[in-house]
Amino acid sequence: MLVLGIESSCDECSVAVVEDGRRILSNVVATQVDVHRPYSGVVPEIASRTHTEWILPVVRTAIKQAGIDETMLEGVAVTYRPGLIGSLLVGVSFGKAYAYSRALPMVGVDHILAHLYAPQLEFEIEYPFLGLLVSGGHTIICVAKDIDDIEILGTTIDDACGEAFDKIAKFYDLGYPGGVAIDRLAQSGDAEAFDFPHPSLHKGDHRYDVSYSGLKTAVANQLEQFRRPGRERSPENIAASFQRAAIEMLVSRLENALEDTGLKRVVAGGGVVANSYLRKRLLEIKEGRGLETYFPSLKLCTDNGAMIAGLGYHYLARGERAALSLTASARVTGFRKTYP
Ligand code: KG4
Ligand code: ZN
Repeated sequence: MLVLGIESSCDECSVAVVEDGRRILSNVVATQVDVHRPYSGVVPEIASRTHTEWILPVVRTAIKQAGIDETMLEGVAVTYRPGLIGSLLVGVSFGKAYAYSRALPMVGVDHILAHLYAPQLEFEIEYPFLGLLVSGGHTIICVAKDIDDIEILGTTIDDACGEAFDKIAKFYDLGYPGGVAIDRLAQSGDAEAFDFPHPSLHKGDHRYDVSYSGLKTAVANQLEQFRRPGRERSPENIAASFQRAAIEMLVSRLENALEDTGLKRVVAGGGVVANSYLRKRLLEIKEGRGLETYFPSLKLCTDNGAMIAGLGYHYLARGERAALSLTASARVTGFRKTYP
C-alpha cells in the first residue's frame, strides 16, 4: 500500500511516499530554517503562511521523486497533533482536501507516536521497548507496548530538551538552528570547562522527569560561578559543557527507567536524537548494559513526512478512517502518565 504522509506541525514542510509502512520511496523535507533565521526562532504565523505556499509543490515533488503516478496512492496520513496550531491546520486541511478529491482513505497521525515509529523505517524492532522522545517541543520517556499504546513514565517539568538547546544558542548568539549549532561547536570544546548543576528531582515522583530551567539559568546568567579554574570561557566550551549536562540529564532518567522496568530495548526519536553526544551515549548504554538500542539516521530524527506515512499505514491497514471533521490540536493528549 502506497501512503502519502504529510507533516506540517512546526517549521518543516514535509511530504513522503512510503510503501507498506517501511519502504521510503520519497521523503521531501522543505525546511523553513532560512525563513525564520532573522528572528532566531520559529514565528508561528510566518510558519503557517509558508506551509500554505509550499505544501502543494512539496506534494508534487514527493510524488515525482517516488517515481509513481498520483493514481497509485492508496491512502493519506497527516499529522494532526501536537504542534503549532496554524501550521497543523494547513497540513490537515490539505490532507482532507486531497484525500476527498481523490477518494482516498485518510488517517490522522500523532506526531509523538510518529517520532517513536521513525526508527522502524530502518530497523525491525519488537515491542515492548523503552521509548525516548526528545525534540524541540517534547521530552518524554515512555514504555511503548504497541504502535499506538504508550505509557508515559517521565517528561519535562518545564522546557523541552531541544528548546533548551535553542534558547542557549540564541542567548549566546551561537547560530541558528540552535541544536545543530551547539552540537557543531561542542566538537571542538571542552565539556569539563563548566560544571553545571544537575537538578535533583530524579527521586520520588520525579524519578523519570527532567527539568531544564535551572540549567538554562545557570548557563545564561551564572556562567562564571560554574567555570572550573584555569578553563576558558569560549563559545566552544560553553556549548560542550551545556550539551554534556543537558544530555546526561536525559541519560540518567533513562537509566532509572531501564532499571525499574527491566526492559532490554531502547528506541529513541525526535530532533535532539540527531545530537552526536546523545548518539554516542546511546551506543555506550548499549555496550555497557548489553541492550538493544535503536535510533534513526539524521534525516529521520527531525520532522519528516516518512514517519507519518509509515505509522499511518498501520492505521489504514487495519481499516481506520478519519472523518472529514478531523481537526488539528496543539496539545499533547491521549496518553496515560504513570508515576512509579
Ligand atoms: O523533532 P524536531 O524536528 O521538531 C519537533 O518536533 O520539535 O526537533 C527539533 C529540535 C530543535 O529544538 C533542534 O534544536 C533540535 O531538535 N536538534 C538538535 C540537533 N538537531 C536538531 N539538538 C541537539 N543536537 C542536534 N544535533
Ligand atoms: Zn518533531
